[in-house]
Amino acid sequence: MQPETTTAISGIQIRPGRRIPGLDEDVRRGLLQPPRSLPPKYFYDARGSELFDRICDTPEYYPTRTEAALLREHSGEIVMQTRPDEIIELGSGTSGKTRHLFNACEDHNHVCSYAPFDVCAPMLQESATLISNDYQWLQVTPLVGDYSAGLDNLPAGKGSRLFVFLGGTIGNFNRDEARSFIREIKSTMQPGEHLLMGVDRIKDTEVLNAAYNDAHGVTAEFNLNVLNVINRELNANFDPSRFRHRAGFNTGARQMEMHLESTCDQSISIEAIDATLDMSEGERILTEISCKYEYDEFSSLLQDCELELLNHYEPPNRYYSLFLARST
Ligand code: AVJ
Repeated sequence: MQPETTTAISGIQIRPGRRIPGLDEDVRRGLLQPPRSLPPKYFYDARGSELFDRICDTPEYYPTRTEAALLREHSGEIVMQTRPDEIIELGSGTSGKTRHLFNACEDHNHVCSYAPFDVCAPMLQESATLISNDYQWLQVTPLVGDYSAGLDNLPAGKGSRLFVFLGGTIGNFNRDEARSFIREIKSTMQPGEHLLMGVDRIKDTEVLNAAYNDAHGVTAEFNLNVLNVINRELNANFDPSRFRHRAGFNTGARQMEMHLESTCDQSISIEAIDATLDMSEGERILTEISCKYEYDEFSSLLQDCELELLNHYEPPNRYYSLFLARST
């Protein structure tokens, strides 16, 4: 049998709205002096993306499967209520969970187009091809770029859009940044357009801590892998076996915090930026925050951003939320 689609899907390059610092600059600024930190976006090289997929399959990491179940159950209602001409997804990855929305479109004979927006061009290309083979009616236009560098340069929408931001990735922004980012989304929206957002909730600390400390150490490997990224990209000599994974819920800040902790006094050379990093035993690098929200806090946040809350979906245990809002 011939494959049904053989032509490559051409993507559109999205110009950043502001300058994006490179890894060299982020390492210089964040790592060389305490408090040491790294932006979480560097987790996702080929190995890191694979490890993240494995995290989602661990029994402890509930967000992915909880969100998928909510989408499976409510996509029909979401599609019927929003009737989008275009679904635009920020940080689309492999577009796995978005398929529930396309299935719902099929169920309700609703035709629309799909614009997955992601930094990783090869992955976008591959997932766009898979999606358009599986949904022949769906016109797929990949957008290649960094959504966190601004949404000013998106191509004009073809009609009314549904913006989709899933996975609880809004948690990687601190609370102020999250507000600014949602404002930014809102400012690119026309009145009557919609936003669907996945948000992880505050819950028992033991449940949260387990989700970021899975028994098989997949999250630990994911966290440590960022050191391999720096070794490769900046010709550094981190020894991942001299660090340990640490993750815990900060109750005051209402966020998960993930660190890499030095297990000894050590000195690391980072050749590409001509720097030496000295770390003492027990010293930590903050590699990720993942903010958790109560329903009330997030719904007021949407309101503050002049978005009208249309619908909210949560499972009976209230572990996770899907917020559906409309721009006024
Ligand atoms: C992809 C950012 C939503 O914060 O839970 C999973 C990343 N880090 N395990 C999250 C992650 C550790 C994840 N997000």
